Amino acid sequence: MTPFPEFPPEFVWGTATAAYQIEGAVDEDGRGPSIWDTFCATPGKVAGGDSGAVACDHYHRWEQDVALLTRLGTNAYRFSVAWPRIQADGTGAPNPKGLAFYDRLVDALCAAGIAPMATLFHWDTPQPVEDRGGWLARDTAERFAEYAAIVAGALGDRVRHWVTLNEPVVHLLLGYATGVHAPGRTLLVEALPAAHTLLLGHGLATRALRAAGATSVGLTNNYSPAWPATGQAEDVAAAASWDVLYNRLFTDPVLAGGYPEELRAFGDPLPAGHEDDLAVLAEPLDFLGVNYYNPTKLAAPPEGGPLPFEIAPMEGFPTTSFGWPVVPDGLRQLLVGLAERYGDRLPPLHITENGCSYDDEPDADGAVHDPDRVAYLEAHLRAVRAAMDSGVDVRGYFVWSLLDNFEWAEGYSKRFGLVHVDYETQARTPKSSFDWYRGVVTRGV
Ligand code: FCB
Repeated sequence: MTPFPEFPPEFVWGTATAAYQIEGAVDEDGRGPSIWDTFCATPGKVAGGDSGAVACDHYHRWEQDVALLTRLGTNAYRFSVAWPRIQADGTGAPNPKGLAFYDRLVDALCAAGIAPMATLFHWDTPQPVEDRGGWLARDTAERFAEYAAIVAGALGDRVRHWVTLNEPVVHLLLGYATGVHAPGRTLLVEALPAAHTLLLGHGLATRALRAAGATSVGLTNNYSPAWPATGQAEDVAAAASWDVLYNRLFTDPVLAGGYPEELRAFGDPLPAGHEDDLAVLAEPLDFLGVNYYNPTKLAAPPEGGPLPFEIAPMEGFPTTSFGWPVVPDGLRQLLVGLAERYGDRLPPLHITENGCSYDDEPDADGAVHDPDRVAYLEAHLRAVRAAMDSGVDVRGYFVWSLLDNFEWAEGYSKRFGLVHVDYETQARTPKSSFDWYRGVVTRGV
């Protein structure tokens, strides 16, 4: 095995988390209900009937978690701000106690020399905003920008990097089209107008952040290379259709000035007058956040099927406990592909999420060994380095996740952390991958 590659001294190393997945304390200090509270309370929606009501209790244990970050030695940390903590109703005056929580967290990170990267929307819409139409209502984009301005006003002097939205395509497809995630809508292609509102919210929030002095603003998308199941023209066309929906819908309007023409294959999915917003959507980014887990294989749909593709099984790769195929070279392909597709218009990249779930449990001595995660991370970092060697401008890498946490519809059954969490006791136990990553990020320091 060739030696582990060098990364530039200024490379940003981090871990990522999200508010609903770790904070708990859903009824405290003026936090209002979010769509995830509602969804978790609906029988049959989340594995094991789990909810984020307690999660990792990070709201109370944040000092311990910052101490873990200090021990890890990373120079950055990506977290998300819960909109319902800042505005319980999704509008109007901010809740000072909600802001104070993030204020303390950001202060502690800065004191530890860890650059905060704050995500403004990681899927936890205030329930009242959803009740007024959620991301299908244009007003939500305006309210989101108002909230962005509030948070930037409070934390902007210390937060180094901002992410407006996390993975809007996942929120759209799982939250509004198929109902696997909150808010549990099953609108199928009728969900597509929400893409425009999400992008409008991103653009308006970007402007609000800049007006408050932010100098590093990005959008985080989930990308999955589209692999045709065979070389046959029908399968190649199916892969291209899926690529439009999954990889291009939330990137072309931002980096290439408009929606992909091929979106027409899904009907006439955009709200009337959307053209007038395109300049807002194309507000320049300081960086693009890339979340990568795996490629997707596509085949031609059955005759008369509702969509122009069908997802095919990925065979021949090891899988994580989620059943997701482990394909490190997919990350290299994706990064090189973004550079090829968007050329000079592609801003610098941060890998804002990459990681894996395994059934990690303590051994008889209480230690948690996760060699599969070490192998996964090492292989993916080599893929990042290979993309950089072919000219892609990657500035940072954030492991998903610092802690085992509430994995959405899978509840607590999937463990993605560098740190094991015992949900009975809230004991945190760094896994062997934690020590491995510390070795990577502190090299040469
Ligand atoms: C991503 C989400 C993140 C986490 C990982 C496993 O899609 O952004 O919150 O659930 O998947």
